[in-house]
Amino acid sequence: FNVPTPINEPVKGYAPNSPERIELLKMLKELKQQERDIPMHIGGQEVRTGKTLPINPPHDHQHTLGFFHEGDASHVQQAIDAALAAREQWAALPWEQRAAIFLKASDLLAGPYRARINAATMLGQSKNAFQAEIDAACELIDFFRFNVHYMQELYRQQPESAPGMWNRLEHRSLEGFVFALTPFNFTSIAGNLPTSAAMMGNVVVWKPAYTQIYSAQVLMELFKEAGVPDGVINLIYVDGPVAGNVIFNHRDFAGIHFTGSTGVFQTIWKTIGENIPKYRSFPRIVGETGGKDFIVAHPSAHAKAVATAITRGAFEYQGQKCSAASRVYLPSNLADEILGYVKEDLASFKMGDVEDFSNFINAVISEVSFDKLAKYIDGAKADADAEIVAGGGYDKSKGYFVEPTVIVTKDPQYVTMRTELFGPVVTVYVYDADQFEQTLELVDSTSPYALTGAIFSQDRYAIDLASKKLVNAAGNFYINDKPTGAVVGQQPFGGARASGTNDKAGSILNLLRWVSPRAIKETF
Ligand code: NAD
Ligand code: ALA
Repeated sequence: FNVPTPINEPVKGYAPNSPERIELLKMLKELKQQERDIPMHIGGQEVRTGKTLPINPPHDHQHTLGFFHEGDASHVQQAIDAALAAREQWAALPWEQRAAIFLKASDLLAGPYRARINAATMLGQSKNAFQAEIDAACELIDFFRFNVHYMQELYRQQPESAPGMWNRLEHRSLEGFVFALTPFNFTSIAGNLPTSAAMMGNVVVWKPAYTQIYSAQVLMELFKEAGVPDGVINLIYVDGPVAGNVIFNHRDFAGIHFTGSTGVFQTIWKTIGENIPKYRSFPRIVGETGGKDFIVAHPSAHAKAVATAITRGAFEYQGQKCSAASRVYLPSNLADEILGYVKEDLASFKMGDVEDFSNFINAVISEVSFDKLAKYIDGAKADADAEIVAGGGYDKSKGYFVEPTVIVTKDPQYVTMRTELFGPVVTVYVYDADQFEQTLELVDSTSPYALTGAIFSQDRYAIDLASKKLVNAAGNFYINDKPTGAVVGQQPFGGARASGTNDKAGSILNLLRWVSPRAIKETF
């Protein structure tokens, strides 16, 4: 038998008066009216510590959506114990049974959970309806469907057998537990990291970013309703280093599925390295990390297409995508025209609350992020090497609002050409139109990251040259398209260099990291 052939979930349009918009508005109202009490989930039990912290929408920080119960080291230990207690039965369950659970999860998310996960993502992470729909609904549905399909492919991979013998490959789960450590910016990533490891028969301790807990608790309810047994995924709200201190010292720590910043991943890798003799096995270390993603336009590029790629690639979800375009190289023959279109686009963008569907720009995730962005914008205002040609304003009186900002610099090594800011700020360098090849070298060498990048050109030789010169500069390389918006099953996602281990989320390559195959030879 075969699992259903996966198809990408169609994105709903949320047109005025459409059934999906009416349902979403109702859900937003309902969520805002009740302050939720949000427990951790360990071994199927709701755990309340009494030490609560508020959850406030980034676009309206005086409003309280609810309170979550923060745990400590003892809760991390409880979560590990619960995971290990569930391990034997879960690992022994036939894979088809596990597949059925995650196919059910995809159906629940496509139907009864859709409005709630989108509303929770909008309120908790300040994502507008269109961005929430692409992330929390469609991408996570796709992760479930495609991963189930890839799981089947993986289990079907078997060795040859000569006459007189039968060789088999048994795709065991890892011996121990997996730690899923997830970021704030994609609800789909928070959902995918624990479930892709669990799907392969592993048990999981999952710690989300505090700024994503509001939608994480909806995901946990979804997993339960889909039939994930108690103890298989344990959700804890514990300070990162506190959790890490228990987890990375545990003998049964078998792997980490991480998405977040490069600095945190480097610290974690170092800790794991120092603790290696303590572990039963060499842990799997899978991490997708930061980016400084580029757009390079060739002198033959279509100017309007480049401008659209900049405004959408740099500013959707306030630039808080690891894939967001944040450094742009424009040829001198087109720069004015492209920047003119960008400014026109930006003049039409509205900024504000997520419930006004005409707002393109919402708030950045936190005060820490806001202050960091304000510091770089102020730096550019004061700096002779930089000029702000659009935006540059910010205001945190009601929410953490930063205007989409375009900096033009004469210095290709300017600080905002090199540093991941993770906000709505893009820096442009204008190169001499006959220096295209030298500019490609600059693109390759300026940043330590290698996540996404795009070349715009109508000249096939230039496209080929860029593709070759930038072969290691991006794990996801786009030709005449913006460098964001990878679709599960179509563009497997992940980067190398300082951008991570490139284990391509939502692909068979990622699932391979969560099994430990046993080769069996039987002779007759
Ligand atoms: P972050 O690194 O601050 O946090 C990620 C997770 O690690 C959170 O759960 C956090 O609580 C935890 N953490 C932080 N410090 C820790 C420590 N010392 N020990 C243990 N855990 C710790 O990242 P973020 O701000 O939530 O997300 C933004 C970052 O994620 C950006 O750098 C972005 O590029 C990256 N990102 C990458 C991808 C990708 O696919 N490459 C996708 C999304 C986000
Ligand atoms: N997968 C997301 C994108 O491609 C991060 O934009």
